[in-house]
Amino acid sequence: MKPAGRTFIISGGCSGLGLATARDLHQAGAYVVLLDRNEDAGHAAIKELGEEKAKFLQADVTETSSIKAAIKSTVEWIQQTGAALGGVVAAAGIAFPGKVYNARTNSPVSMSSVDAVMTVNVRGTIDLVRLAVPHLINNTPFTADGERGVLILVASSAAFDGQPGQLAYSASKGAIVSMTLPLARDLARYGIRVVTIAPSLFESEMTRNLSAKARESLERVMEFPVRAGKPEEFSSLVMHSISNSMLNGTVLRLDGAMRMPSKM
Ligand SMILES: NC(=O)c1ccc[n+]([C@@H]2O[C@H](COP(=O)([O-])OP(=O)(O)OC[C@H]3O[C@@H](n4cnc5c(N)ncnc54)[C@H](O)[C@@H]3O)[C@@H](O)[C@H]2O)c1
Repeated sequence: MKPAGRTFIISGGCSGLGLATARDLHQAGAYVVLLDRNEDAGHAAIKELGEEKAKFLQADVTETSSIKAAIKSTVEWIQQTGAALGGVVAAAGIAFPGKVYNARTNSPVSMSSVDAVMTVNVRGTIDLVRLAVPHLINNTPFTADGERGVLILVASSAAFDGQPGQLAYSASKGAIVSMTLPLARDLARYGIRVVTIAPSLFESEMTRNLSAKARESLERVMEFPVRAGKPEEFSSLVMHSISNSMLNGTVLRLDGAMRMPSKM
């Protein structure tokens, strides 16, 4: 599908990988809805992109009512612009490090931190996607194949080689990997594709405050290139995934062959 003249909802669209995706989609002539809980970042992004083809909707993906309100506003905007919903990029995500047992405090991981990660990364992704899907199903097909939309989900290298302290984060990203095929199978009859991207270490707000020890441990095992990924390298794969109709029900590792090590 060509993104130009279509609307894309990008959760986590005001920072890092989501913002880079919003920039590329916007540049390609798409209308972008930045669905994010960070109001300041939202206003900054709209200042950069302009109001004609970009909209910030403050929303929290852990709240169904909040997502519903954002989808409603998106549909109203679409009625004005005539740019049908082309898809969703579900990039909102959080990471709290925590080992299952903390020897220093002699305590198991807190369930509040596990719940927070699972709720944003897993529940938030499923909730956003399920509420957007009916609007994609209503589309008149965009292509001769009958394509009506595309969902891009964001996993992580941690889904495959989670490090110590990544219990909840790895579990959440493993869930994203596992839901990719059943989602694609559920939606195939409507011409809606699902592609998951699993990045390794990428420059963003999420990784800016990584400890030097953790960053060095990752840099040591990088194959090529020997550096963190750039957000625009992530977004260029999103753009390709949107345009290449044969990509469906699959998980694309975007990691320069790096496999995360066990020891820091
Ligand atoms: N940066 C990396 O190295 C890396 C690697 C693998 C996977 N990822 C994944 O990529 C995605 C994007 O991460 P990033 O690196 O751009 O991080 P980031 O922190 O720069 O951006 C995440 C955005 O999500 C928003 N967000 C968080 N919780 C939210 C909520 N409940 N409701 C609405 N918005 C919310 C934040 O406000 C922020 O704007 C995440 O799913 C992350 O797990 C990142």
